[in-house]
Amino acid sequence: MELLTAVRTRDAYANLALPAILRRHRLRDRDAALATELGYGTLRAQGLLDAVIDECTDRPLARVEHAVLDALRLGAYQLLRTRIPPHAAVATTVELVRAEAGSRAGGFVNAVLRRVGERDEQAWVAALAPSSDEDPVGRAAFAHSHPRWIAQAFADALGRSPDPAAELDAALAADDARPAVHLLARPGEITAAELALVTGGAEAPYSPYGVHLPSGGGDVGEIDAVGEGLAIVQDEGSQLVALALSRAALVGEDGGRWLDLCSGPGGKSVLLGGLVAIDGGTLDAVEPSEHRAGMVRRATDGLPVTVHQADGREAPLPDASFDRVLVDAPCTGLGALRRRPEARWRRQPSDVAGLTGLQRGLLTAALRHVRPGGVVAYVTCSPHLSETAGVLSAVRRKHPDVEQLDAREYLPAGPTLATAHRAAVAAPARHRRDVPRAAAPGFLTVDHPRRYSRSASRNRRTSDSSL
Ligand SMILES: C[S@@+](CC[C@H](N)C(=O)[O-])C[C@H]1O[C@@H](n2cnc3c(N)ncnc32)[C@H](O)[C@@H]1O
Repeated sequence: MELLTAVRTRDAYANLALPAILRRHRLRDRDAALATELGYGTLRAQGLLDAVIDECTDRPLARVEHAVLDALRLGAYQLLRTRIPPHAAVATTVELVRAEAGSRAGGFVNAVLRRVGERDEQAWVAALAPSSDEDPVGRAAFAHSHPRWIAQAFADALGRSPDPAAELDAALAADDARPAVHLLARPGEITAAELALVTGGAEAPYSPYGVHLPSGGGDVGEIDAVGEGLAIVQDEGSQLVALALSRAALVGEDGGRWLDLCSGPGGKSVLLGGLVAIDGGTLDAVEPSEHRAGMVRRATDGLPVTVHQADGREAPLPDASFDRVLVDAPCTGLGALRRRPEARWRRQPSDVAGLTGLQRGLLTAALRHVRPGGVVAYVTCSPHLSETAGVLSAVRRKHPDVEQLDAREYLPAGPTLATAHRAAVAAPARHRRDVPRAAAPGFLTVDHPRRYSRSASRNRRTSDSSL
């Protein structure tokens, strides 16, 4: 409840607010895992829960006291999406409300939750969601508790696939799933095999530097290898895009001058800096926010990385000089919603338009800094076509000398991955195969494959050559 209140009243980010709440209440291990599941799960499922609660009360939701509505959502989440026995879910929620808001409110919550518990999630979806014949996107949005405009953005990105309804379903389900924690074994510090051994995790299926931690493993800050700076928390998908950039074919030798144009808080700079260091190269990392630039400095301490606190569109760096440039652009994050439980309900369609100008500016600057024959990776964790294909085509129109490469050539392949890839990558990515290569500077475009790690788990690959 504390987490829900913080998100509602202070616009808190759940993933930042929760650790402090867990510490304050001294919740650890299984208790912390349960609190996390209930808090994050309730925030993610809010749209679905509200629709069900609305059906179970005569009072419009807008007239239900905020704290009581939070408790109803928490109770409904337990009833519909956990194995907590229904009587326990109802009793604890009612008790909570009685203590906070009095017995009348407790009686109201009791009555509503009993009605919620009369059906399971599937039955509520069948009763309340639009029909898949008439409105497949609306149905998928309802079933996976996404705002409709976000589900539509996924559907647009998937384009004309053989089975668009199934693909949209899979993409939204992945977006709604509990995220696993992945670690990066810092190159030169520890191998993934060693890190897996000391953490009890498993080597990642695709990134040779990745480790997947077991679920419910507690506070990652307490893992010795993380505390000692041998490893950092980083999605396997993030590792894959940095690795893809590091391996993309250049025209001419790699002179070891790499640039990370949007580097805060520094995760990819750690990996790129570690990789470029192997051959004696350097990385320049740009970040306008003072706080985040400080985070990049701390994260890359000991690596040949120079951090510049600057706007990436006008960074004090030479033109036509860098072999490899990463633009990990600020974006709506619509493809990484499972990491930000409340974000889907905060984001607005207007946010997209507000970001595309900046994204175009950053990509344009990257093309200025890359040397002829070098490579730029444009990366987002959003599948929205305006932030991906739209940005690329707008910038490419002004740069006819730039060749667009097929990002898939530098990313792992596999049947399960192919499905995840289509879910994560904007539709035009599939046509990139036909683009001839040769012109310079090279242009690699990659959409964040953050979903890969989860969907691809059956297809184990560990070697660098898979990339
Ligand atoms: C998606 S995050 C980058 C994540 C980072 N690459 C990592 O792996 O840790 C985007 C970053 O771009 C930064 N940013 C925002 N406006 C920018 C600008 N004008 N120039 C460069 N970076 C910018 C944000 O502060 C944010 O840190």
